[in-house]
Amino acid sequence: MTTSSRVVSAEDMKGAAKRRLPKMVFDFLEGGVLDEITVARNTADLRAVEFKQRTLAELEGSHTAVSMLGRQSDIPFFVSPMGMLGMMHPHADVGVARAITRAGGTFIHSAWSGVTLDEVVAAAEPGRVWGQVNYWKNREHTERHLENLRKHAIDVLVLPGDCVFGDKRERDLHHGLNNLPPRLSIPDMISCALRPAWVANILFGRKVTYGNYTINGRPLKMSQMKPWMAENEDVTVSWRDLAKTRENWQGKIVLKGVMCAEDARRALDLGVDAIFVSNHGGRQFDRQPSTVSVIEEVVEAVDGRAEVYADGGVTRGHDALAMMSAGATAVGLGRSVAYALAAGGEAAVSKLIAQLTSEFEQAMGFCGVADPALAGPEIRRNTWGGGAR
Ligand SMILES: Cc1cc2nc3c(=O)[nH]c(=O)nc-3n(C[C@H](O)[C@H](O)[C@H](O)COP(=O)(O)O)c2cc1C
Repeated sequence: MTTSSRVVSAEDMKGAAKRRLPKMVFDFLEGGVLDEITVARNTADLRAVEFKQRTLAELEGSHTAVSMLGRQSDIPFFVSPMGMLGMMHPHADVGVARAITRAGGTFIHSAWSGVTLDEVVAAAEPGRVWGQVNYWKNREHTERHLENLRKHAIDVLVLPGDCVFGDKRERDLHHGLNNLPPRLSIPDMISCALRPAWVANILFGRKVTYGNYTINGRPLKMSQMKPWMAENEDVTVSWRDLAKTRENWQGKIVLKGVMCAEDARRALDLGVDAIFVSNHGGRQFDRQPSTVSVIEEVVEAVDGRAEVYADGGVTRGHDALAMMSAGATAVGLGRSVAYALAAGGEAAVSKLIAQLTSEFEQAMGFCGVADPALAGPEIRRNTWGGGAR
């Protein structure tokens, strides 16, 4: 399955994904929590950014590489952790990890991934996979997962601070996805019937499981996920847990989901190595500011003590440059990558990454910047606040 030569952007990938996925799966991917205000803000605030065009800038030696925790990333993008990628395409995390790491970027394996870390590490370029681990009520699950990272010599741990409490994604509720497997409505049955390739992949391809967790030695099945989560979710997770992890984990720690200066400072005081500004793409908590609009506040609080990453609404190379002009070191891709995966598996993800990188390079050029690390607020004409308000 390939994407046509007319698919030239993240938006085109999204269109192709829409044609290939049943509506309930597309809605699961595109949707956000409640009124989806945060989803809209992420995008609108990025698009409202105006860059300053510079002429006759000498751009010899121009490149797109950035440094992430002491290692070079050839591109300014990494893939944010995403669970359920197997619903988009059987290549799932394996295809995405291959595509991004071959391009010289980093893949973050989700704590909720349907593919085991072992499979992902075997497929990816060495040293380019980071692992996300969640705090479960039974901390043995958490410990086992950490042990697995150590076994694979993964030395960057990403902790999710943006999904402790439940979500209310109303599109999913309309499709009955609160029960897994769902009892399909007639329109959803028709939507599936019109996409036999997707149905065949789900029925006969890679089984969608929670690859990181097991019951009696077997990966959790889809039907077991809900009760397992209900039993294991822990809303008492606190800074104390982070402090304990800091003591026991020798590698680097990235805290994802930081959306204000106070939390950034507290995380740094506890020894976190990088701050990841994320509102989970507006999928967990609505009525938050856009990520791009809080990067500067967080960068100021961090005051050069750590790297700052950001994600949320990135569909163009220009979006990444906007985030970097606010002080982000590197930028995460969420839905854009999942749409590309659905549109055409690993090849389409590679194509998307190449497109975004080329857009980024062009935008840098027009702004007169030869090194992403030098993209500061002076490349912009305006500040944040143009979003969906
Ligand atoms: C299908 C899907 C699954 C996700 N799963 C996770 C996850 O397991 N862990 C996590 O920290 N974030 C998860 N996220 C959030 C992403 O890491 C990221 O923060 C968000 O998608 C960025 O916004 P964007 O989709 O607008 O690029 C998920 C997002 C999507 C779309």
